[in-house]
Amino acid sequence: MYVYIMKLQIADLEFEPLISPEEIQQRILEVAQQINADFEDKEPVFIGVLNGSFLFIADLVKEIVVPCEVTFVKLASYFGGLSSTRQIRDDFDLTIDINGRDIILIEDIIDSGNTIKYLIEKLIMRNPASITVCSLLLKPDAIEHSIEELRYVAFQIPNEFVVGYGLDYRELGRNLKGIYRKIG
Ligand code: IMP
Ligand code: MG
Repeated sequence: MYVYIMKLQIADLEFEPLISPEEIQQRILEVAQQINADFEDKEPVFIGVLNGSFLFIADLVKEIVVPCEVTFVKLASYFGGLSSTRQIRDDFDLTIDINGRDIILIEDIIDSGNTIKYLIEKLIMRNPASITVCSLLLKPDAIEHSIEELRYVAFQIPNEFVVGYGLDYRELGRNLKGIYRKIG
């Protein structure tokens, strides 16, 4: 049986539960149903932004019933800290041609919005038919850009540092089934 841990130590920080594994799975079902309806007659390409989105995209695409492709890019922006450095490092790029394709970008979290804005601008130059953004989490009080491509958000959360279900602190905690917020 899975025990939802009440308090968690990761490196020098303490965390407490914010979103349970059951709530995550329930919302993923709802978001997938919306995508299935919105892309009914399409063949979208899901692009996961690594590392943070690996669990989310895995659980999400299992609920997708329209024909689709799944691929990844890798970007990094936090570098072990608690806030965005505003520097984005491109670790690896797309290996497929997205010209004329309907793209669904899958993010773990939109914080300042810098990373997703950078990625959207980069992909637009390759002439996709459309770009839609789907994020597990959104911090509405932290966002600095209006992202018109943002159509699906599983959870809006307070402007606090979180880990779990793909998100890390110093590369730790990505394997947790739930999402935890930093205490204090
Ligand atoms: P943005 O560029 O400020 O929107 O930040 C986006 C990236 O920063 C995300 O894809 C995450 O990898 C990371 N990030 C933002 N907030 C958090 C958090 O609370 N915990 C862990 N990583 C975060
Ligand atoms: Mg990320």
